[in-house]
Amino acid sequence: MNTQPKTATAQEIHEVFELFKKNMDIINMYEELLYADKDEEKWIDNYKKRSEATRKAYADNTRVSVLLAPFFADPSTLTDDVADALYAELIDLGPGPYDDAFIAVKVINLLITYYRQKNNLSRLILLYNRLGYEAFMTFRMGCKQHGKLAYDSYIKVISYAREYASFTDFYVRRAIFVAYSNLITSLPSYDLVNIDDAFDYYDKVQALYKSDEVTRLDGDAHEIKEIMEYIRENILGNESLIPNASEETKKRFCTLAREVYKEQCEKAGSEYKIDVIPLLANYRALYIEGRCGYTDAVEYLLAYYKIRSKDKISRKPKVLFAADEEFNFNTQLPKALIFGWLKDRRVDDELRKRETRNLIDCVNKYYASVSRKNYTPFINRALTDWCFRHLCLLDSFEEKESTIFNVILHRQIQTFFHSHMVAYLARMITDSVLENMPELLLPIYNLKSTDELYKKADDLRLFIKRAALYHDIGKTRMPNIINMQYRRLTAEELEIIRQHPGMGADAVDEDFDDYHAIILGHHKYYDGETGYPPRFSTKGLRVKPVIDLITICDTLDAATDYYGRNYAIKKSFPEVLEEMHNDSVDHYNPQIVSLLYRDKKLYNAIDALLTHGREEAYYKLIKENL
Ligand SMILES: [Fe+2]
Ligand SMILES: [Fe+2]
Repeated sequence: MNTQPKTATAQEIHEVFELFKKNMDIINMYEELLYADKDEEKWIDNYKKRSEATRKAYADNTRVSVLLAPFFADPSTLTDDVADALYAELIDLGPGPYDDAFIAVKVINLLITYYRQKNNLSRLILLYNRLGYEAFMTFRMGCKQHGKLAYDSYIKVISYAREYASFTDFYVRRAIFVAYSNLITSLPSYDLVNIDDAFDYYDKVQALYKSDEVTRLDGDAHEIKEIMEYIRENILGNESLIPNASEETKKRFCTLAREVYKEQCEKAGSEYKIDVIPLLANYRALYIEGRCGYTDAVEYLLAYYKIRSKDKISRKPKVLFAADEEFNFNTQLPKALIFGWLKDRRVDDELRKRETRNLIDCVNKYYASVSRKNYTPFINRALTDWCFRHLCLLDSFEEKESTIFNVILHRQIQTFFHSHMVAYLARMITDSVLENMPELLLPIYNLKSTDELYKKADDLRLFIKRAALYHDIGKTRMPNIINMQYRRLTAEELEIIRQHPGMGADAVDEDFDDYHAIILGHHKYYDGETGYPPRFSTKGLRVKPVIDLITICDTLDAATDYYGRNYAIKKSFPEVLEEMHNDSVDHYNPQIVSLLYRDKKLYNAIDALLTHGREEAYYKLIKENL
C-alpha cells in the first residue's frame, strides 16, 4: 500500500487561492463599511461580520498551509502542473488587494528550487526578479535579512545580461532591465546599494541597451525604452544621498539633473508642470554647485507643490506597480519635500512650522479618503511610514499625538480600539490602586508619602492614560497580516511581531521620552527579565509599576478580544483573571491581580466592559473620533 501522503493537484491549488482572494474581498468590504456607515446597529453588525470573515479566512487559509506543506518539505514532489499553478497564483500575491509578501517569498523560493532542478533558466530569471521585489518589501516590513536577499536576487538577474541574445522570451530579456532599474532607483535610499555603485550600474545598463544584441532584438521595444527612461529620471530620485557621494558622482548627478530638467521644462512649457523628481534634482544640483541658496530652493519646491496640488490628477501612473498618481502625489511628493529639505536647520523656523502643518493636513485628509478595498497593505504601510517620518517636524506634543492617532484610526482600526481599551482599563485600575494601595505608585515620581502622590493624581492619571494609548505604537510599523491575522503567521512574521516594542520606541522622538521604557517594556513580565525584547530589563525602573499595570491591561483586553483576534474559544474576563491568578511564575504583578479580585466595584466595571460592553465602547470611539 502507498503510504505517501497525497500531494495537492493544480486544480486544488487554484481553488484554495480563489477562496483566499474571495475571503480577502469580504474582509476589505466590511473594513471599508466601518468608516462609511455610522448607524449604531449597522456599525456593530458590520464590525461583527468583519470579525467573522477574518475568522473564516483564517480557517480556510489553514488549508493553503496544509496543501503547500508537503511541497515545502520536499520540493521534488512538485509536478509541472502544480508549479505552473503556483507560478500563476504568484501574480495575485503581489501589489494589490491580496498582497502577501511573506507567502510570496516562500512560494518563490520553492519554485526556484524546482526550476533549478529542471534547468529552466527563463523561469528562474523571472522568479529571481520577483524575489528581489518581495524581499525588498519584507525587508521594509522589518525582516532585516531580506535586504541582502533582494540585492543578491537582482545581482543574479543582471549577471545573465551576457546571455541576453539566448533568451527567446521577451519578458526574460526585459527582466534584466527591470533588475537594473531596481538596483539603481529603489535600493540606494535603503542603504542596500551605495550611491556611487548605482551610477556604475547606470553605465552598465546603458551599455547593455546600446549593445548590438539589444538593438537587434529589442531596439523597437517600447517597454524597454520606457524602463530606460524611468531609470534615467529616477536615478535622480536619490538626490538626498548626493551630498555624501564621491566628487565624480556629484558631477554626473548635476549634469544629468540639468539635462532631464531642461528637457521636461521644454516639453511641459513650465517648471511647475514637470515631475517632482527632476525638479528636486535640479535644485539639489544648483545648491551643490553653489548657484542657489538652500532656502531659495525650498521656496521653489513649496511653490511647485502648491500649484501641483491644485492640478487635477490626469496623467497615467508612472510607477510599474500598484500606486496611482494621486497616491504618489500625496505621499511621495511631500515626503521628498519635507524629509530632504524642510527638515534642514537652514530653513527658517516659522516657514518650517507653517509649511509642515499645511502638508500634514493635506496628507491627513488623504489617509481618510483612501479606500481599504485595494492595495490595502501597501498603502497602509506607505501612510504610516509617512506619518512617523514627518513626526519630528511637528512642533508640539499634542500635534504629534493627534497625527499618530489619526493614522491609527484610519489605517489600523483594531490597534485604535485596543489602545483605547487598554487606556480605559488602566484608568479604572489606577483609580483603585490610588484608593487601596497608593504606595505601589510612589516610585514613579520618586515620592516618599502618599499625600504627595495625591497632589499629583491628575498628572499621574494623564501619564498612565497616555502610556496605555502609546504602548502599541509599534504595531503601526507591522505588516497588515500581523495585525489582521487572516492566516497563520510564518516564522519570520512571528519574529517581526517581537520587534513592535522596539519599533514603537524608535518611531517617536524625545518628546515621548517619558513613555519610552513603557513602549519598549510592555511585553516584559513582572520579573523584568522574561518576555521581549530580550536585551532590555525593566528591573528597578522608576516607571516599573506603570509597565506592570499596562502589561495586565494589555493581556486583559487582548485575551478577551474575541472579535479582534482569531481565538478558537471566547474567554470572559473572570476566566482570564483566573489564568493570571494561577500563573505559577508570576508573569503579572500579584498585588494588582489580587486587587482585581478584592475590589468588587472594579471587578464588575471591568467585567461589564470586557465581557459585554466591547462593541458599544468601540462604536462610541468611532462616533467621537471619525
Ligand atoms: Fe504590544
Ligand atoms: Fe497591546
